[in-house]
Amino acid sequence: MPLIELQDITFTYRGAKNPALKEISLSIEPGEFVGIIGPTGAGKSTLCWVISGVIPQIIRGKYKGKATVKGLPANKTPVADISQIIGLVQQDAEAQLLMTDIEKEIAFPLENLRLAPEEIDRRLNEALDLVNLRSERFRHPFYLSGGQKQRVAVAAALAMEPEVLVLDEATSELDPIGAEEVHNLAASLKNKGKTILMVEHNIDELAKVADRIIVMDQGAILMDAPIREVLSKVDFLQSLGIYPPQVTQTAYALQKMGVEIDPMPITMEEGLEAFGRFN
Ligand SMILES: Nc1ncnc2c1ncn2[C@@H]1O[C@H](COP(=O)(O)OP(=O)(O)OP(=O)(O)O)[C@@H](O)[C@H]1O
Ligand SMILES: [Mg+2]
Repeated sequence: MPLIELQDITFTYRGAKNPALKEISLSIEPGEFVGIIGPTGAGKSTLCWVISGVIPQIIRGKYKGKATVKGLPANKTPVADISQIIGLVQQDAEAQLLMTDIEKEIAFPLENLRLAPEEIDRRLNEALDLVNLRSERFRHPFYLSGGQKQRVAVAAALAMEPEVLVLDEATSELDPIGAEEVHNLAASLKNKGKTILMVEHNIDELAKVADRIIVMDQGAILMDAPIREVLSKVDFLQSLGIYPPQVTQTAYALQKMGVEIDPMPITMEEGLEAFGRFN
């Protein structure tokens, strides 16, 4: 059974004229790292909210089709229950942090689950270790860097022990160092076998970690394929204002000049390998 399955999801925000999602179908298997890309307004965040039940339970509108997480209907299962399967981390780290210290930030939702104190403590320590923030546990989030704040938000999501981590542009408001912290964290969680759905505009970072990419535009999925296949479609991506990694663009330009390059490089390492023979 897929972890996440969407069948013909169409969603129109209350008061909106056009649907933000149009007949979206997809399925995600355990252990996959799926990147979602597409221009602004494509419906990427809307998709994340459908998967986490926020749409239509908190943000309302006209909802058609079927979305399930672990077989449970995402539109009817309480959002608090879904958050134990789907951990959602959004763009604005600041707005997600509500408590006065990091420990409370992570423990509070666990207390709401009525877990035993020992279990809360275990999860708290584990989540802090995963994001490498154990030494900061009693600090006020105010004193953290952007990257640390976002890591707290990830820790709070992970402490629910969800099977899937959904990161919706979780690095877009961070400085390069903060973004790198979160990217490294996502890569290490992937290596631990976590299923990850990552909306990300930094294609170079996605190229290092994603197995598969979903390309969205105007509420529709234009492409859903293994990452190398997607990034090789340089003209197609550029027509959407998406720029594949430099190495891929360079290889593509060489291909057009008749140079045979196969497989298409998508990371710096692969680029060195592919171009090395021209030295
Ligand atoms: N709360 C809302 N109410 C009404 N319309 C909304 C709401 N949120 C988003 N929309 C509209 O739905 C469409 C999809 O928006 P969405 O935020 O999902 O796009 P996105 O791909 O996440 O864009 P971005 O890259 O800017 O984050 C857009 O046309 C947007 O204006
Ligand atoms: Mg968005």
